[in-house]
Amino acid sequence: MHSPSTWQHTTVLLAEAIDALVTTPDGVYVDGTFGRGGHTRALLARLSARARVVAIDRDPQAIEAATTGPQRISDARFSIHHASFAQLQATLAALGLHKIDGLLLDLGVSSPQIDDASRGFSFRLDGPLDMRMDTTRGESVAQFLARADERHIAEVIRDYGQERFAVQVAKALVARREGGHPVRTTRELSELVARAVKTREPGQDPATRTFQALRIFVNAELAELEQVLSATLQLLHPAGRLVVISFHSLEDRIVKSFITRESRAVVDRRAPFAPPPPLLLKAIARIRPSDAEVRANPRSRSAIMRVAERTPVEAEA
Ligand SMILES: C[S@@+](CC[C@H](N)C(=O)[O-])C[C@H]1O[C@@H](n2cnc3c(N)ncnc32)[C@H](O)[C@@H]1O
Repeated sequence: MHSPSTWQHTTVLLAEAIDALVTTPDGVYVDGTFGRGGHTRALLARLSARARVVAIDRDPQAIEAATTGPQRISDARFSIHHASFAQLQATLAALGLHKIDGLLLDLGVSSPQIDDASRGFSFRLDGPLDMRMDTTRGESVAQFLARADERHIAEVIRDYGQERFAVQVAKALVARREGGHPVRTTRELSELVARAVKTREPGQDPATRTFQALRIFVNAELAELEQVLSATLQLLHPAGRLVVISFHSLEDRIVKSFITRESRAVVDRRAPFAPPPPLLLKAIARIRPSDAEVRANPRSRSAIMRVAERTPVEAEA
């Protein structure tokens, strides 16, 4: 039987992320999405005895895996904190840290979360319809679907799942609830979606989009990402690196537009000879997994890693 500390996660873009993140071996680095620590372990191996690695995860099971059991990390340079990366600035301030040399975010869910039926992330396994990454707070998917009106449910499934049949799925969910049988399990939801979604995409379960949408919604994934990105402008030292690995286009669009906004000079057409406004970031790279990595770990297929570097320009407080 598996326990939180023995579930495995195959880290995506491991060497590429560490190469992009580390600019000084003595620095302070943050892994905002510890998971099972694949990136953190490689980072610790790369850094000097004077460095520091602060890890964060909002999932209590990730914290448990890092601190107890066979995969725990016993290293004086390392600490781990149960929080959302949206609270990065406060988490660091509580440690007396106000500047960092690099932040890594490997977004989304880990394999241990997906593979544990009791977390409710997988349409392939039957379990309670939960999908919260932080099981100590917030509303589960079942609770949301038990209270929300049809329009709100349809908006979530359309906006976060890009599901063409969002209205039909929402109607079916509300009809079932009004009949006295609200969906409570992942199997009930995936069967209902399979009946409501009328077309099939090759190689994709019809429930994929709805599950993705509800997961993004209950975890406020996009809002939390926007918050942490803007905090990096204050936190990163000049030449410090931001490295973000995204797994779907909604996340990647947010990362891409943030980096573009902060790194691309826009000429004011009313004053074309005025000096351009100072830029806080420099875009460094956009990296996809190699064919070999995708063959070895199909979950890496949709990954896009973006790297940006903080310029020396002061950020406005
Ligand atoms: C793809 S996994 C990271 C895997 C990790 N890089 C490794 O190699 O083991 C994503 C992790 O980020 C965590 N996570 C997602 N959103 C978060 C947030 N807003 N704040 C903190 N942790 C978050 C999830 O709980 C999950 O453990």
